[in-house]
Amino acid sequence: MTSPDSNENLLPPAGVQNEIGDLIEVFNRMVASLAEQRSGLNDTLSLLDSMLANAPIGLAFFDRDCRFTRVNKVFADMTGVSLSRHLGRTLPELLPQPVAQQLEEAVLAVFAGQEPISTFELSGQGGKPGRPWTWLVSAYPVRTNPQQVRWAGIIVLDASDRKRSEEALRRAEKLAVTGRLAASIAHEINNPLEAITNLLFLLRNYCQLQDPALNYVTMAEYEVRRIAEITQQTLRFYRQSTLPARTKMNDLLDSVLSLYQGRFNSLNLQVERDYDPELDLFCFAGEIRQVFANLVGNSIDASVAGGRLRVRARRSRNWKDPAQSGVRFTLADTGAGMERAVSERAFEAFFTTKEVTGTGLGLWISYEIVDKHHGLIRVRSRSATPGKPSGTVFQFFIPDDPNLLGAADPVAGTAA
Ligand SMILES: Nc1ncnc2c1ncn2[C@@H]1O[C@H](COP(=O)(O)OP(=O)(O)OP(=O)(O)O)[C@@H](O)[C@H]1O
Ligand SMILES: [Mg+2]
Repeated sequence: MTSPDSNENLLPPAGVQNEIGDLIEVFNRMVASLAEQRSGLNDTLSLLDSMLANAPIGLAFFDRDCRFTRVNKVFADMTGVSLSRHLGRTLPELLPQPVAQQLEEAVLAVFAGQEPISTFELSGQGGKPGRPWTWLVSAYPVRTNPQQVRWAGIIVLDASDRKRSEEALRRAEKLAVTGRLAASIAHEINNPLEAITNLLFLLRNYCQLQDPALNYVTMAEYEVRRIAEITQQTLRFYRQSTLPARTKMNDLLDSVLSLYQGRFNSLNLQVERDYDPELDLFCFAGEIRQVFANLVGNSIDASVAGGRLRVRARRSRNWKDPAQSGVRFTLADTGAGMERAVSERAFEAFFTTKEVTGTGLGLWISYEIVDKHHGLIRVRSRSATPGKPSGTVFQFFIPDDPNLLGAADPVAGTAA
């Protein structure tokens, strides 16, 4: 049989000069134009196929029973289910709830309303990437004639990375604001502090004070010096947080512990230091110091007279990813401990059990800082139980990797 593609075989002999000849010519033109249209159609189909396969967005089409009729590779990658397994299946057969339900509602709404549905956001956990994801979804009708919607198509854009970076930016911004606020308060406190120091100096030297008044002046001077130290530390935190650097950990830890020496003494707390003088870490030193200061402050708040505080820092591996090396800090106290209901919420912003004295921001800020360093923080705690000692252990791990902080590692052992 003659193939419809081999047009030459259909051509009647040339040179016929009558009506039949005209007819033959018209016929020839029709055959040529049909062949041209067919090749155009094939081109369009290949174009559509390649768009479906290569578009950097997920595309899926459904029939009126909400069964997949076609999906592209990007969509299959998003669902984590192979391309062929989609065909003929419904959304709840392949995707977890409530994601499946929300997509199905969109598909049904397209068939019912015959109109596109504007973009909506879908979030979930798990799937192939194994972490939280966010999709931007829109749905639209596919018609084969103006009256009939044959399929419903959905377009899915994976906005997870954008969402994550927005989140990170928001956190960084919050931290920067907190830092600026703390720095400006510290700065403002410095002026009246200067005045108080001067007044105490006058009192001591020009007022011929006797004991106990003189003793009170000495105590006031001591406390004022502590305030000055704290404000300077705060200012330093802020300044140092602007650039990451390789930092000696024993200097950092010692400087925080010395800040709290007064409170250790008054509670008669025994502090055990267990860290190598040579241990260093590439980090935002001021911020790591702030984490440590928050944890020590909390331990002191929870401790009773005669308690113990163990501070340890050592080179270690990420407990969730042993391939990653860094420094693990452990702070263990023998304080009152926490009930489970408290430890579960301890990292929430504004969560505090200290009514008037606490703002509930210490651990939240600490979490943000550790997270900014791509590290981890965890807590184990036991509140008073008969026969068992109470206490709390905080651990945080900071990877030692300048690349993670977007910096090149300068010569080790500089900035302390
Ligand atoms: N070492 C600890 N021992 C017992 N409870 C703790 C310990 N560390 C934290 N907590 C509990 O977690 C809560 C939250 O701590 P967080 O440091 O965030 O806020 P805070 O100390 O209450 O206030 P601040 O903002 O002044 O730090 C505390 O109120 C306390 O109940
Ligand atoms: Mg605190």
